[in-house]
Amino acid sequence: MSNPIRLVIFGRQGAGKGTQCVRLVERFGVAHISTGDMLRAAVTAETELGLKAKAVMDAGNLVGDDIMNGIVRERLDEDDANTTGFVLDGFPRTIAQAEALTQILGTRALHGAVNLDVPLEEVTARMMARGRADDTPDAITRRLELYESETRPVLEWFAARDLLVTVDGLGTEAEITERLFAAIAARV
Ligand code: AP5
Ligand code: MG
Repeated sequence: MSNPIRLVIFGRQGAGKGTQCVRLVERFGVAHISTGDMLRAAVTAETELGLKAKAVMDAGNLVGDDIMNGIVRERLDEDDANTTGFVLDGFPRTIAQAEALTQILGTRALHGAVNLDVPLEEVTARMMARGRADDTPDAITRRLELYESETRPVLEWFAARDLLVTVDGLGTEAEITERLFAAIAARV
């Protein structure tokens, strides 16, 4: 069995992280860990977490670091995350989450963090076309603001640790996939 691959994917809301993660799972056999998908599943199941998270997500705000760190810690302790590795999508989004991730992973070093780079106008158009529950104009604006104020510093945090690689996220899905495969292959 091949060695586990451990990745983080960054990118503005609507950059295509979820879209490309499907292809990364096929190619590298890693587990796709999307905190947004986990929260939406909790909302649908009307769990205690889901009931709490719904209003926060609808407004485009961030769920608290303590809650998010707990969810990710549990998920990364599962067998598949240890044996096949993972691609984290939507986490870490704050410096506090990045520090928690380092602590959660311990000796399981990350291979890299990919920044899927797509301009503001393009991500806005993609989200308006998609129409998820939190794709309202106000929530989109808020999510993009929080990306700049909370998540941009996390990119710098990864760059300072020589883990960040930026990939152009404009083009067809297949073109972007090829760029991602090349960027990741260079790191594993
Ligand atoms: P989350 O689910 O992470 O949403 P997001 O950050 O808004 O990112 P998206 O899922 O919208 O974008 P994506 O990059 O996956 O794009 P996609 O592939 O869908 O988080 C939702 C909420 O949960 C947050 O706002 C927050 O409240 C909470 N949350 C989650 N994690 C948290 C955390 N760690 N801490 C605190 N709170 C947290 O693509 C977008 C569209 O573009 C699709 O329609 C797609 O078909 C299309 N598309 C994809 N690729 C292309 C292409 N190449 N060309 C044209 N269109 C394309
Ligand atoms: Mg997504």
